[in-house]
Amino acid sequence: MLYWPRLKEALLNYLICPTCEGALDLSVAKAEDGEIMEGKLRCQSCARSFPITSGIPRFANLDEIESDKRATAAGFGWQWQHFTQEDERYAEQFLGWIAPSTPEFFRDKVVLEAGCGKGRHTQLAARWGARDVIGIDLSVAVETAFAATRSLPNAHVVQADIYHLPLARKFDYAFSVGVLHHLPDPRGGFLSMASKVRSGGYVSAWIYGAENNEWITRLVNPVREKVTSRIDQRALLQLSKIPAACVYLATKLVYGPLNRNGSSVAKRLFYNDYLSAISSFGWREQHTIVFDHLVAPTAYYIPREEFESWWRDIGARDVEISWHNKNSWRGRGRIK
Ligand SMILES: C[S@@+](CC[C@H](N)C(=O)[O-])C[C@H]1O[C@@H](n2cnc3c(N)ncnc32)[C@H](O)[C@@H]1O
Ligand SMILES: [Zn+2]
Repeated sequence: MLYWPRLKEALLNYLICPTCEGALDLSVAKAEDGEIMEGKLRCQSCARSFPITSGIPRFANLDEIESDKRATAAGFGWQWQHFTQEDERYAEQFLGWIAPSTPEFFRDKVVLEAGCGKGRHTQLAARWGARDVIGIDLSVAVETAFAATRSLPNAHVVQADIYHLPLARKFDYAFSVGVLHHLPDPRGGFLSMASKVRSGGYVSAWIYGAENNEWITRLVNPVREKVTSRIDQRALLQLSKIPAACVYLATKLVYGPLNRNGSSVAKRLFYNDYLSAISSFGWREQHTIVFDHLVAPTAYYIPREEFESWWRDIGARDVEISWHNKNSWRGRGRIK
């Protein structure tokens, strides 16, 4: 018997036309195991239509998007289709990025993840009891995210640009981890994400900090901008093994052991908080992290003062901003 798929039915409660905010009509071409795999969403007001292919509603056409955003999406899309591994430490790492939110905080909330990559955090939010969680991403990473979350009835993946979200203002919580600093206008991306949160709901964001990262902005950024973000991703995969091996050896032989032993020398080591935080990750995860830093054509390192002003711009209350691993800013606030 043909039945209306539960998963997409729930998703439709949140989707609207990204151009005119009109309601969308669904037509189904193919459903599989209770999920719409092929079909179309058509705006009742402006008649624009958006395809559903391979189970994912597509609101962004990469061939038509601005070139800077397309380059970013190409690099990350490749990254998240290659580094598809899962790691049991993701939950702890995620909680570090969205503190003070906890797993219990997700219970029964309608959640938006802006820039979900391979879907690891969308997956966690669903497992932690979100009523519904929608992960959006511009790149082909959505294919990996879809596969990672397919078995979770409360998780949904949508291909969309953070600046043109096809979503109603119905979210209890929106978060973005490691995305906003890669946008051409980070503040604009933050405002767009926050605009989807209802009054009284919450927003979390984690971004690279300017403070303590001068060595990256002076030494690494020129190489990233001129070389590593421009070369073929397969070549970068090989090339990035050199810095990744240095990070791996340093964390396994020096940072990890000294920090575990509580040595006073550890505190004086270069970039200790961050390198000690990633020291328990294995080779593949550390390689992913190094590749991630080198692949992006755009990366802003944002001062605290500027980050604070974003929260003023959205008129948030109960804002908590803190310094994470002494190299990045995380914040959470409540929409008035
Ligand atoms: C460093 S990854 C982080 C992914 C995920 N948040 C995580 O921590 O695993 C950045 C992600 O932002 C996405 N992204 C970049 N520009 C975007 C845009 N304009 N709209 C939506 N997503 C975007 C990229 O495709 C990529 O998957
Ligand atoms: Zn429309």
